[in-house]
Amino acid sequence: MTSTTQAASPLMPTYPPAPVTFVRGEGSYLWDDQGRRYLDLLSGLAVTSLGHAHPAVAEALATQARTLLHVSNLFGTTIGPEVATTLDRLIGDGVPLGGQVFFCNSGAEANECAIKLARRFGGARLDRRAGPERPGTGGAKSGEYVRGRHVVVSAYGSFHGRTLATLHATGQPAKHEVFQPLPEGFRHVTWQDLDDLERALDPSVAAVLLEPVQGEGGVNPADAAYFQGVRRLCDERGLLFMVDEVQTGLGRTGRWFGFQHLGVVPDVVTMAKALGNGVPIGACWARSEVAGVFEPGDHATTYGGQPLATAAARAVLATMESEDAPGRAAAAGARLTQSLSALPEVVSVRGQGLLLGVELAGLDASAVSAALLAAGVVGNAVTPTALRLAPSLLITDAQIDEAVAAIGDVLAAGVSAGPS
Ligand SMILES: Cc1ncc(COP(=O)(O)O)c(C=O)c1O
Repeated sequence: MTSTTQAASPLMPTYPPAPVTFVRGEGSYLWDDQGRRYLDLLSGLAVTSLGHAHPAVAEALATQARTLLHVSNLFGTTIGPEVATTLDRLIGDGVPLGGQVFFCNSGAEANECAIKLARRFGGARLDRRAGPERPGTGGAKSGEYVRGRHVVVSAYGSFHGRTLATLHATGQPAKHEVFQPLPEGFRHVTWQDLDDLERALDPSVAAVLLEPVQGEGGVNPADAAYFQGVRRLCDERGLLFMVDEVQTGLGRTGRWFGFQHLGVVPDVVTMAKALGNGVPIGACWARSEVAGVFEPGDHATTYGGQPLATAAARAVLATMESEDAPGRAAAAGARLTQSLSALPEVVSVRGQGLLLGVELAGLDASAVSAALLAAGVVGNAVTPTALRLAPSLLITDAQIDEAVAAIGDVLAAGVSAGPS
């Protein structure tokens, strides 16, 4: 193993020093710079859902790199609309919904798009009747800025990204502290408490933004009754129900999208991570009546929907469909859950499909995660007492058994006492 001291690193110290440097991957395995092999049960935090170096994705990237890497969004491309059409069908669980997609580069950006959409949907606009163009302002008109419904309500324990707006949407006040002032227009409510949500819905609210399983918050799945209650409240009050599927989307939970377990159809769905299997791409989908509130110029990003990233996404989605990735995640998740639950040091296993939180009996999850890495298994501590596992959706039964045996050995060795 190698490590880099922060003082010597050319990288900003936003992450803890890396315990291992990976140089190669194939399927569910990674290799470090010393040639040591690891079983990857984290997938780059739910990104490489088809495993590392998937041949279909690699081939699509190589072909596209030789054909056309990038054009500006001032011009058309063929692949973006094709991927958007597939996503619309998968969001409809096989039935096209006629929604529209904005492509971007990350999960935070997908949520930024959703937040801007909510503000426009809520009626934010400049009343241009009030004045002529102002000289020297690049075409800005004087006029009256009309603030519509604009507040986005999200849940405590949520995670929606690290840009200033998505950081404020993230319901973890400790992460906000050193970045004040944050953009206004965000409010947090207790997770899974419909009464608390209802109390928060004053006339300034435009949208509710929730994850179907809180990933970074500890792998906490939502109840169907909660999501259905949120849908009802949003319908009654004309609010957008926006679902953040950045971690859960595209098969990981055993359905194409996590909300499909919960008996609702959202107005806006955001995703990223698995969409490119490691190539940076995010997407924000909205029902067409919602997407239609955007006008040309309202939102943009240079790389959004460019040919290389969308070629990767097209190959990912085609492979996921041909492999029945959601079905495989459901079956593999059941096997992994059952085997892990039988370990004496495991209190419970929560989550859905292959997004699992493994609650440990009296053990420090960070120490367990470090011991697992030393034993050649990659996972992470999602809370002080729980491990998060998010392996490739194509993980084999033999690899699951290998993972459970390794985890069992590490837990039996009893790395340390529980967190104080
Ligand atoms: C639910 C959720 N939303 C948003 C994000 C932010 O995505 P990104 O890191 O790609 O900006 C994450 C990242 O972990 C996430 O889990």
